[in-house]
Amino acid sequence: MADPNQSAPEGRDPHSGGPALSRRSFLKGAGGVAAAGGALSAQAQAQSAEAATAVQTMRGTVEVTLQINGQARTLRCEPRTTLLSALRDRLEPALTGAKQVCDIGSCGACTVIIDGKPAYSCLTLAVQCRGKEVTTVEGLGSPEAMSDVQEAFCAKDGMMCGFCTPGFVVATHAALDRNPEADLEELKYELSGNICRCGTYPHVFDAARAAQAARHDGGEGK
Ligand code: FES
Ligand code: FES
Repeated sequence: MADPNQSAPEGRDPHSGGPALSRRSFLKGAGGVAAAGGALSAQAQAQSAEAATAVQTMRGTVEVTLQINGQARTLRCEPRTTLLSALRDRLEPALTGAKQVCDIGSCGACTVIIDGKPAYSCLTLAVQCRGKEVTTVEGLGSPEAMSDVQEAFCAKDGMMCGFCTPGFVVATHAALDRNPEADLEELKYELSGNICRCGTYPHVFDAARAAQAARHDGGEGK
């Protein structure tokens, strides 16, 4: 995975989240309205209200409904809130499988799948995910019913401290779904956006290959 965030929603604008209204232009407009005194026209009042709402939206919170692990989940967050923060801090109950480690898109611990492609949730805004299908590690399996990749990570000891593991599991799912015939070098490439500080890479790659082999032997991937 050379660039796990390559699948991040198109048109990404880290400064989006509200109309482009500067404080200067807002104050200027408000001043003009005030100067008009009691002669405020209905249009001016409407524009003033609209501007106030815009500022409120930019500085306040918005309601967002996201499709996460097959369920519609509604939360309130600021337009600047990352998907990672939304998952971990704004949802009730929270989804803490995606880990916040670097928070700058360099470690892969926060990897989720968005519309079938791996993405760093720390670099993705929650509001950008409206209308998209988000899958976290919780949506792939559970301790009681693990996915084939999760089982392989356990069988191959693909973890030490385990902090990077959810990201690797998600990235492995995405890699195997995208290219079921990937050879070892291709799998390493697909997982290259994830870092394991414990250095468990050989076991991680063994697990990825084992899950791939199990799928070839009749498993369909789960
Ligand atoms: S926490 Fe997102 S890439 Fe490290
Ligand atoms: S197992 Fe510890 S960081 Fe990967």
